[in-house]
Amino acid sequence: MHIDAWFATPIYNGEIVPTKEQKNKIERYFYKYTQENGDKIFIGNSLNITGDVTGQHQISELEEFEWINEHLYGHIDNYLRAIGVNTSNYKFYIQKSWPVICDEGGGVAPHAHMNAHLSAVFYIRCGPDNGGDIIFGSSPDHPLNVLPVHIPNTNVKYTPTENQLLIFPSSLRHQVTEFYGKDFRFSISYDIMITTHININSDSESDVSNPDLWVSLGD
Ligand SMILES: [Fe+2]
Repeated sequence: MHIDAWFATPIYNGEIVPTKEQKNKIERYFYKYTQENGDKIFIGNSLNITGDVTGQHQISELEEFEWINEHLYGHIDNYLRAIGVNTSNYKFYIQKSWPVICDEGGGVAPHAHMNAHLSAVFYIRCGPDNGGDIIFGSSPDHPLNVLPVHIPNTNVKYTPTENQLLIFPSSLRHQVTEFYGKDFRFSISYDIMITTHININSDSESDVSNPDLWVSLGD
């Protein structure tokens, strides 16, 4: 007898290594952003600054971060090919990207990014013994979660390391545990859209068409 465990949720665990100069530029940006937005650090109950609610929605456009985009593209391509997707049929877009700064005592409550297809997090500055772990939880309608029994652990925890890149389906619920570090924890969050190319296939029933094909309504 054995048990077949099907329908796994793939989480991509990779790495992007900056040069010393790239790393310095990014850290300088983060410290400056923290200084400029320090008054917004108490958001909800968390000691965090998250760019998506403090006005920095597209960090990938900035010179300090632009070089990451090509790496991210390669990793997303790897991720989807590893799960059997013919990636030549699709285009990927960074819909949003923003800095996340955790101060001592900070954390992020469980949430999902329902506005996107894939999400990614790239860790710039973190320590292994400082908390700030990311925990992924299986969906409430997962077949195991609707059984009337207690299952000890349906969550999975990653203790982030510097330069680590995680990619996951945006609908996957996740949270960040309390951060205990004395200095800040820096990471970048990405929301990715997967669309067709501009030359759309004749059968595009389940696809999101390329934004260049969209027709705007209103002003
Ligand atoms: Fe998130």
